[in-house]
Amino acid sequence: MGVPEGSAGAATLRYEGTDIELPVERPTLGRSAVDISGIGAHGLAVYDPGYANTAAYQSAITFVDGEAGRLYYRGYPVEQLAMSASFLDVAYLLIYGELPGSQQSEEFVAQVRAPKAVPHVAIERLFDWFPESMHPMAMLATATEALTAYAEEDSAADPGAKVEAAGVRLLSALPIFTGYAMSVVRGLPRGRSNRSLDYAEDLLQLCFTIPGSDHLPDNATARALNTLLILHADHELNCSTATLRLVASSGASFYSGVSAAINALWGPLHGGANQAVIRMLQEIKDSGKPLSYFLERARDKMDPFRLMGFGHRVYKNYDARAKVIRQVALDLVEKLAPADPLLEIALRLEEVALADEYFISRRLYPNVDFYSGIIYRAIGFPDEMFTPLFVVGRSAGWVAHWLEMATEGSRIGRPTQLYVGPVERSVPKAATTA
Ligand code: ACO
Repeated sequence: MGVPEGSAGAATLRYEGTDIELPVERPTLGRSAVDISGIGAHGLAVYDPGYANTAAYQSAITFVDGEAGRLYYRGYPVEQLAMSASFLDVAYLLIYGELPGSQQSEEFVAQVRAPKAVPHVAIERLFDWFPESMHPMAMLATATEALTAYAEEDSAADPGAKVEAAGVRLLSALPIFTGYAMSVVRGLPRGRSNRSLDYAEDLLQLCFTIPGSDHLPDNATARALNTLLILHADHELNCSTATLRLVASSGASFYSGVSAAINALWGPLHGGANQAVIRMLQEIKDSGKPLSYFLERARDKMDPFRLMGFGHRVYKNYDARAKVIRQVALDLVEKLAPADPLLEIALRLEEVALADEYFISRRLYPNVDFYSGIIYRAIGFPDEMFTPLFVVGRSAGWVAHWLEMATEGSRIGRPTQLYVGPVERSVPKAATTA
């Protein structure tokens, strides 16, 4: 791993008359970080709600330049990969650090697309049990956890090989789980994976092909889905990946960590925003109220309403992924669903929000979730399937992060707290005799 580049000097913290020298670590890109691990000896902790400015790990996988709105996987700009690579080649890049040569690519595809990677019969029984009212994210999390029962890779001695085998199984399983979840949502029979198709094509046909028919997804739709999978594949220490790493640090199983990450991704402030955006756009449409009414609500701190799909912890500029997704939405919707009124509303909402002082001063821009739901909707996915599609893409990053931890080693993750509860007191006599 290339980080840290080394010490970038030291910072001095003066506390109660004592100067505490703290080393400063310099990364290859981004802000230098003050190593505060020694301040506990001085009776101090760091208070950083939401971990807004805490580097908890070193990582060489992904870099987000929030000021410039750029995203790099292993040094490659994501928009270049999104336009030219296949999702599985990008997954390989994230996991192994380099783009695959043609033979490596073929071998990796063959492993991921191997029919026996997923225990079909057992998993089908699990999906038989899922009611229509269960959210597909809960189905994916449960089915992923169930893979622990079939994890013969857990017996591998080398921690890296173990993660690689589990990662291949996960990448293999998720399109199938997503297709099965779609069949529960639609109340239709399950499709069968067609291993002669590429990853995005198979995901589409698993979701849309009625068993027995030989209908195959069209190229433009499969290309759009491939692009979306790449754009969602990793985003350094976001909420779900941080969750995954925390679980990994305890020594729990890979599938349990991914299951936890899926649940973290589900939240509307994280990956669940893609579903929440479409619900918000629909609400705007149905209300017949002007956009200014909704902007007013978004500005009002007493109102829980937020402009979903806007704002980001790291990006203080237009998110590189959102730019590509916006263009794909414009191209695909014109082709598949020429008159989606929600796209019109989204475009106008973006325009007015970007001209609004509240959003300008806080540097709030559309994020990856603002236009992605428009594309999924145009393809024909119901809105509860949007976040599962995010899972399929993000799984590549999760494998890469778990592998990085397994090969580099890590301490158990255990943040501290600023205790603000009562100081020691005695239990009243009446309570002890009751
Ligand atoms: N609508 C209205 N106001 C917003 C929004 C929004 N979407 N996002 C941020 N703000 C405001 C905050 O109220 C805050 O205002 P203040 O300074 O007056 O208190 C300021 O902008 C800074 O926002 P924070 O909430 O401090 O930013 P944080 O980094 O904690 O949260 C988040 C980031 C969760 C993404 C937030 O912008 C948000 O809730 N966005 C809407 C949900 C969303 O789209 N999530 C998907 C993110 S991308 C992803 O995870 C895949």
